[in-house]
Amino acid sequence: MEGIFITIEGPDGAGKTSVLRELLPRLEDAMTIDIVATREPGGSRIAEEIRELILNPANTEMDVRTEALLYTASRRQHLVEKIKPTLARGALLICDRFVDSSLVYQGAGRGIGIQEVAEMNRFATEGIEPDLTLYLDIEASVGLERINRSKEERQFDRLDQEKLEFHEQVRAAYLTLVEDNQERIILIDAAGSIEEVVTTCFNLIKERFPTRF
Ligand SMILES: Nc1ncnc2c1ncn2[C@@H]1O[C@H](COP(=O)(O)OP(=O)(O)O)[C@@H](O)[C@H]1O
Ligand SMILES: [Mg+2]
Repeated sequence: MEGIFITIEGPDGAGKTSVLRELLPRLEDAMTIDIVATREPGGSRIAEEIRELILNPANTEMDVRTEALLYTASRRQHLVEKIKPTLARGALLICDRFVDSSLVYQGAGRGIGIQEVAEMNRFATEGIEPDLTLYLDIEASVGLERINRSKEERQFDRLDQEKLEFHEQVRAAYLTLVEDNQERIILIDAAGSIEEVVTTCFNLIKERFPTRF
């Protein structure tokens, strides 16, 4: 495909959403191609409906494999409706979370197994992978603290109820993914200020795709 596919990953509270918000206008100013930002789960009407189902705090009886299937279904719809057409017209698409999130949250965190979740996702994505993944690394406890501090301004969802141990497993699995995919995934220390992280991300994208600036 013609375009550029970038994903942002990291534990809850790493700053993915905040960084993307500030990174976008900087990229728009500096780059010569169209830029589209989107997020998972969601990013299209049907996919957003599935997101509601997944994140609804009332759905306490949700089975872990049901949850994994819903994330994957949402991803598939988003891929077909938004990611593929955007890349086909040569734009840069930046997505807040993608397959790696399922691998670490469902595969590792929920204990389904990374390989099984990877297999299910290959069915959904037909092998489409990001060109570059920016992994914002943060200690689980720091990420959770940030989220707790922002509770007033941010909607509390079902996943926020998870224990620290779950988030530590998620982070450990992310670090293994980085080790195993060094060509694609770049680790960024997300303990600094939002501005610092944004600048690091910007420079990495510029380094990787210099002809688009
Ligand atoms: N680098 C940072 N330093 C301090 N606070 C941060 C930083 N990045 C994000 N935050 C705060 O942490 C909370 C969660 O950030 P958010 O961008 O929603 O994280 P994520 O999307 O990775 O879960 C927000 O209140 C945000 O303002
Ligand atoms: Mg977010």
